[in-house]
Amino acid sequence: MKKVTINTLHKLKEAGEKFACLTCYDALYAELFAEAGIEVILVGDSLGMVIQGHDTTLPVTMEDVIYHMQCVKRGSKGSLLIADLPFMSYASETQTLENAARLMRAGAQMVKLEGGAWIAESTRLLAERGIPVCSHMGLTPQSVNRIGGFLVQGRDPDQADTMIEEAKLLEDSGASCLLLETVPESLAKTISEALSIPVIGIGAGQAVDGQIMVLHDLLGISPITPKFVKNFLIESKNGIPGAITAYVDAVKAGTFPGPEHSYN
Ligand code: KIV
Repeated sequence: MKKVTINTLHKLKEAGEKFACLTCYDALYAELFAEAGIEVILVGDSLGMVIQGHDTTLPVTMEDVIYHMQCVKRGSKGSLLIADLPFMSYASETQTLENAARLMRAGAQMVKLEGGAWIAESTRLLAERGIPVCSHMGLTPQSVNRIGGFLVQGRDPDQADTMIEEAKLLEDSGASCLLLETVPESLAKTISEALSIPVIGIGAGQAVDGQIMVLHDLLGISPITPKFVKNFLIESKNGIPGAITAYVDAVKAGTFPGPEHSYN
């Protein structure tokens, strides 16, 4: 696979071509993903739920993400590698810079932070120091206790307007891309059209620039299966590699997510 960079994602957005992202936690899958044409790999703190068996992402530590990032890096063959800054690892600006640097040293090429306006200053500091940032808005699982559950965000018009403003602020602060989780499709469309940076969606409908799934959801083995999840293994004639290729094909053809996977 030709090496994917943030410039690749920008070009795909400009050309109106969709790109496929997937979470990954080890070397062999990372290699498989490149063969299937996955442009972006996320070492997500979802590892707390799908690998470690927790019921939220909150217990995940910097050491956990670093370990999985190092594994993924060894197998990676050109996909752009993003790593999550885990819960409370970016609560202060000093912590943010130190922990983001640790993830970059472990092999990440971009770091992901959950939040809106409050992460704007950290985003600016990171970007100025050469660390690309993916901002994560909408349902931010690290805030599940404040939100009151894994609930759709941005249905209320005032909340939607705030999200649009905060997304623009993050772009202006230097974010390289934005991930939107579990928001109405119309809101995701408005935000994608308003931003020039690539917008990646999960449970955000079809109108974003790229899609992401949690690997275990794609394979149909996650304990929780929200509406936006599709099991691609069930129809695969080539096991797991076939399921991953089917996901990439469906994202690029615009057939996934369908209306049945989206919120209105
Ligand atoms: O941690 C993760 O895997 C994520 C995805 C839900 C996008 O942030």
